[in-house]
Order: sequence, then structure tokens, then C-alpha cells
Amino acid sequence: MSAASGGWDPGLYDSTHNYVFDYGRGLVDVLQPRAGERILDLGCGTGHLTQLIADADSDVLGIDSSPAMIAQARQNYPKLKFQLVGAGEFDGGGAFDAVFSNAVLHWIQPAEGPAAAMARALRPGGRLVVEFGGRGNVASVVKAAGRNPWYFPGIAEYAGLLERHGLEVESAALFRRPTRVEGQDGMREWLNMFFQPPPSEAEMQRISEELRPALFRDGAWFIDYRRLRITAVKA
Ligand code: BEZ
Repeated sequence: MSAASGGWDPGLYDSTHNYVFDYGRGLVDVLQPRAGERILDLGCGTGHLTQLIADADSDVLGIDSSPAMIAQARQNYPKLKFQLVGAGEFDGGGAFDAVFSNAVLHWIQPAEGPAAAMARALRPGGRLVVEFGGRGNVASVVKAAGRNPWYFPGIAEYAGLLERHGLEVESAALFRRPTRVEGQDGMREWLNMFFQPPPSEAEMQRISEELRPALFRDGAWFIDYRRLRITAVKA
């Protein structure tokens, strides 16, 4: 199972793609969760960053639209709160001091839904800390595959969207973060996990071979990730 087949394989995600939450640790540092704060982790996956946020004695809720991910998160961290709900459908009722989201928002189109939900969830003065794929993310993969199933906005576009929902943008950065994926088969495994709908075996092979000269060295792939990191405050 892959994201592309309408579901996630939490075991594969955790074992082979653990760089997703390893990189997410830096975003938790930006969030600076404090004791007693109510924090929403939007798109919590298997719950590793939710736990990291909870380590600060904050009162955190993890939400995700994938039943398999939520089931795994509950198994990993039975003491934490998780809810199965899509980002656009969640109604936080202005109850949250902070909303956090790592590597999720590029999956959801139209982007209006999660932006409205994040704004709705925050109390006045509450803060937003998000990071996801920004303009130009995985550009070589998109070019080789001939299609882009994700949403990778630039700074101005996403800041404008947040501002229309009453969020004041305090910082925004679009930066390159080549991401190491191990093994000869790494690109094929990455495509199988993340590309929607999944390319055929033959197509994955073709894309891998086309990208190998540019992205493969010393036994690993270095995929041309580009992140959009934004912090904002609810007016
Ligand atoms: C990302 O985190 O940037 C990403 C991951 C999988 C597919 C596309 C983008």
C-alpha cells in the first residue's frame, strides 16, 4: 500500500522514510511547545512528532485522515490523543494556542480547506508553525514523471492564502534541503510510497534510470526537496 493507492503503510513509512520525522524535529524546535499549551498536530502520521511536542508537557492533539496512520499512532503512543479527521474538516473552535504541521500540506488540494481549518483552530494570538514542499520541490522527479500530483506553492502565494484567513505571517523561507534516500532502489521505493497515482513498474524503472546520473551517488539518492517554512500568528 502507498499514499498513491489511497492509503498509507505505516510500517514502511516508519522504517524506510523515517527522515520525514527526523527532519521534523527541527520544526518542533521552532514551535517551542510549552507546558499546558493546547497544540494541534495537523497530519500527525504515526505520532512521533506529536510525542515530541507532548514531551514539553503540552496538551497535544494529533489528527490525520489516514485510518492506518491513526491506528499506528495510537499503538505507538497510547497516552496521547489522536483523532481520525481530514485537515479541512477539523473544527478546532478557536481552542488551540498553536497549530503545527510537518510535511503534510502539499498533499491537500484545494489548499483553502486546511488554511481555513488552521485559522479556525487557533485562538486570537495563537501561533502557526508549518513546513511542507514549496515551489520547485522535487522538480527533477516532477520533470521526469511529466506530472505533479502535489501542491508546492511559493512564499507569496501561501502567505497570501494565510492572510486571507486572518493569519499574520511573521516569517517565511523557501530553502533547498536535498534529502538522502538509501540504496539502489531508493528512488523506486520513494515513487511507490509517495507518487499519486503510482506509476507502473516499468515507468518507475524509467524514471529512476533517467534521474540516476543527477541524483544518485555513493550508494544513495539525494532528492531535490525544497521546503516552505512559515510561521504566523492569528490576528
Ligand atoms: C515532501 O515532503 O516534500 C514530499 C514528500 C513526498 C512527496 C512529495 C513531497
